[in-house]
Amino acid sequence: MGRVAGKVALITGGASGLGAADARLLAAQGAQVVITDVQEALGQETAATIPGALFLKHDVRNEAQWQDVIARTIAHFGKLDVLVNNAGLVRFGTIEESTLADFRFQIDVMLDGCFLGCKSAIPFMTKTGGGSIINVASVAALKGISTIPAYSAAKAGIIAMTRSVAVHCQEQGYRIRVNAIAPGAHDTPMTQQALAQLPADAAGLDQVNAQGQGQPEDVANLVLFLASEESRQITGTHIVIDNGETMA
Ligand SMILES: NC(=O)c1ccc[n+]([C@@H]2O[C@H](COP(=O)([O-])OP(=O)(O)OC[C@H]3O[C@@H](n4cnc5c(N)ncnc54)[C@H](O)[C@@H]3O)[C@@H](O)[C@H]2O)c1
Repeated sequence: MGRVAGKVALITGGASGLGAADARLLAAQGAQVVITDVQEALGQETAATIPGALFLKHDVRNEAQWQDVIARTIAHFGKLDVLVNNAGLVRFGTIEESTLADFRFQIDVMLDGCFLGCKSAIPFMTKTGGGSIINVASVAALKGISTIPAYSAAKAGIIAMTRSVAVHCQEQGYRIRVNAIAPGAHDTPMTQQALAQLPADAAGLDQVNAQGQGQPEDVANLVLFLASEESRQITGTHIVIDNGETMA
């Protein structure tokens, strides 16, 4: 028996990086997984490597697509127990360099996406006795990084919204746990692209290099724990996974 045997998990942005690792580990531990992403070809490719996985094309900014994705998850697997709001991206630029369009785009994908995910999933999770929602924030919510003001704001918003949603679920007696995770640098396509774009002396890069990047599987282990009943007493918080990047 796996640690999430019998559970149905939906992972947004699951075509690559952390989301793909989450999907692989949750499936290996007995869950039936649905991967969603805007990248259709890569999403299909990733799902094909995971036994029984379903891929659905999905832009997390779109409320109608959320309704469709949840309905198709229920139609295919009968329920929804775990939602990982993982989809994300980053655009670099200081407050002086960034445009309002850059800012709104990142807020749309990460904060609106997370809001819509929680809002869409809760009514279905309540029907089958509860569940676990895991919202992917970042250490960028916890420390100042000059080149990512919008990303930082979105991730800080996710941590704050997580608490609000968790309290609501508890007040309503829903048995839905809602937590955020705040990873530091982990080796994914997003991180590789980001590092490639930055000058060698960019702010914060020395710290990332000194800490050493984690692997996607390190984050997946935390997601697995939060998805499983092992974390049944944990809700309304955020857990930092950053190899000490923010400890001092
Ligand atoms: N890798 C890290 O070091 C790190 C650190 C902290 C937080 N995070 C967060 O982890 C999450 C996953 O990041 P990753 O490093 O695996 O990056 P990634 O680029 O490998 O994966 C992100 C996925 O999200 C998808 N996506 C982007 N916009 C979307 C949208 N509108 N709708 C649906 N899917 C969309 C992308 O297509 C991609 O497959 C993100 O939320 C990111 O902010 C990553």
